[in-house]
Amino acid sequence: MAKKRIGILTSGGDCAGLNAAIRAVVHRADLLGWETVGILDGTAGLMESPPQYRILSPNEFDGNIMRLGGTILGTTNKGNPFAFPMPDGSRKDRSDEIVQGFHSLNLDGVIGIGGDGSFAILKKLAEQGKINMVGIPKTIDNDIGMTETSVGFDTAVTVATEALDRLQPTAASHDRVMVLEVMGRDAGHIALAAGIAGGADIILIPEVNYSVEKIAEKIKNVKKSGRNFALMVVSEAVKTPDGEKFQVTYHGGEKRYGGIGDYLSREVASATGFETRVTVLGHVQRGSSPTYNDRLLASAFGVKAVDLIKEGKFGRMVAWQNRQVVDVAIEDAIAAYQQVDLNGTLVQTARALGISLGD
Ligand code: F6P
Repeated sequence: MAKKRIGILTSGGDCAGLNAAIRAVVHRADLLGWETVGILDGTAGLMESPPQYRILSPNEFDGNIMRLGGTILGTTNKGNPFAFPMPDGSRKDRSDEIVQGFHSLNLDGVIGIGGDGSFAILKKLAEQGKINMVGIPKTIDNDIGMTETSVGFDTAVTVATEALDRLQPTAASHDRVMVLEVMGRDAGHIALAAGIAGGADIILIPEVNYSVEKIAEKIKNVKKSGRNFALMVVSEAVKTPDGEKFQVTYHGGEKRYGGIGDYLSREVASATGFETRVTVLGHVQRGSSPTYNDRLLASAFGVKAVDLIKEGKFGRMVAWQNRQVVDVAIEDAIAAYQQVDLNGTLVQTARALGISLGD
């Protein structure tokens, strides 16, 4: 039987643990006697002529690579290939170029490591080009359905928790309210988890409507209890009480969340008389060496993804459920977009600890 050859690509925003997943794929494939082709810069690498790739040898994937943040393959989180932005400002469907690029590599299957946006694109490409695809979920936002967690989330929460650990002494020294703005896109998972773990007094997430009065009430109660400072975490997608979104438009027109922390810091200062400061954690949440949890998850996901190809189970995403790695249909995972469950354990825990969610 001919030696199998599989491809792997990382797509969407990077996060910690991607290299650990790539490493697991390369080693598992090698044990099966297969070759792994690393496609560079996500689907953008397949649009190039010739396609951009490199053969991944198990020798370059010792334990050290697992400690590295980012992705050695490169990635992209813009430029939907079905409506690709062209230099003249027009949009062009470049999906056929990607399909052709894929087939020119003679791959038996491809493992896409991505979030829900990337999976929607990869699934469409796989159907159009009859590509054997398997997905590994990664995102610091932890908003992919059908999996309890995704590669990168644990590290992002750890970084945000550490930020609160560092903000606490300076807040106490200056009698301040410290506002920490964290990422997470439209889901409040990072804010909620880090807020509880980092001892925040107030956690604002996009899933819960808040009022500045309720926040001020909580801060005044903190002061009455004899404490001279407070910690507040806010998810980037939280809106003003009137529903206004905070976004920044970058060069080229790309919009990203940003600015709510600054707005709330001013509102809270005027409502409470406390001095406030804001820290926007940003991409620091994506960039560090992965936690042990992310290394384990990425390793288990990488092995399972190769095994799915071995079993001929395509259109599947590996997932973590009930302490095990399993596989689910990619379309089900995309459809089950996962925001914070307002009746879930973490929301209940926060409320039971007296943490204000601003409502
Ligand atoms: O989806 C991951 C994420 O880090 C979000 O939390 C954030 O809103 C966005 O990506 C930032 O994107 P970029 O890297 O393009 O600034």
